[in-house]
Formats: sequence, structure tokens, C-alpha cells
Amino acid sequence: MAYTDRITEDAKREIVNILNRIVGVEYRFIVNYPRSIDQMVTIEGVEDQQLTDDLERLGHESGLHLNTCVQLITRLGGTSIWQVQPRDRVIDLEARAEDQLASERLANRLYSEAAEIAEDNPAKSGLLNKLRPSPDAESDPVSRTETIRLLRHMADQELTHERILKDCLATYRALRKTSS
Ligand SMILES: [Fe+2]
Repeated sequence: MAYTDRITEDAKREIVNILNRIVGVEYRFIVNYPRSIDQMVTIEGVEDQQLTDDLERLGHESGLHLNTCVQLITRLGGTSIWQVQPRDRVIDLEARAEDQLASERLANRLYSEAAEIAEDNPAKSGLLNKLRPSPDAESDPVSRTETIRLLRHMADQELTHERILKDCLATYRALRKTSS
């Protein structure tokens, strides 16, 4: 049986569901990284250029991920659902950073899971597909290869984010110690 460079309709729906979960996670990153920088610098007086740059990078790349997710959802024929989370009330920066670390790991897991679904579910080519084109025939459909590439790329970046955030947390703790 020959396969196309497409994903089955069922698998697309599963991937869209996962991406919609990720949208919520990335959105929280976008809100929380700048808040952490603000609290650290203006309230606690902890100033370290590298630390601020790294946290800004995490926020910025979360924004890029969010855009990619929303576009990918549309290209897979789905609708993005924005579940705006309640404001994070944790004001202890270390506790928030630990929480963010868990979320970076979760994001990595979800992107990897979505990539595996795309890998495991190529659509078969056949007469039926030719006679009844699937809703793929939309303006900007995405191939299976491209979907996997995007998801694997973002999963890898989440591992990098986790590493950067761990370093940030260590630096922050060291700076707090010297200033107290
Ligand atoms: Fe991230």
C-alpha cells in the first residue's frame, strides 16, 4: 500500500487537540517571563544583563512557538482555542521558575507526542482519496514531512529552554545569596 505525504484525518484531529493544549502553555510563558524580569529587576533589585537577556529570549521564543502552533492548527484544518489562564498569583520567583521548568518539560513532551502521531499516521494513497478529496484541499495545507519537522524543531527548542531556565535559576539564587 502506497502512502502520501499527508496525515490521516483522525491523526490531524489528535494533533490539533495537543497543539491547543500547547497554546495555553506558551501563552502563560509569554505572560510570565516578562513579569519575572520585572519583579526581579524593579522589586528585588537583582540586575544581571545575561540573566535578563536569557529570560527575554525565553519569552520571545515562546511567542514564536505560539504563532507557529496557531498557524499549524489552521493548516491542519483545525481551529485554535484560546483558553486564557487565570493570572499566575505566585509571587515567589523561585517557585514560579520551578513551575515554568515543569511547563517547559511538558511543552517538550507534548510537541514530541504530536510529532510521533504525525510519524505513525501517514494517509494511504488510493482511488478513494482521489475521488473524495479530504478537507486537505484548503488554501495552505501542510505536508506530513513539514508537520513533523516543525514539531520536532519546537520539541528540541523546549529542551534548550529547560536548560537555559535551569541556568537562570542557579544564577538568580547565587545573586540573591551575595546580595543578602
Ligand atoms: Fe519554551
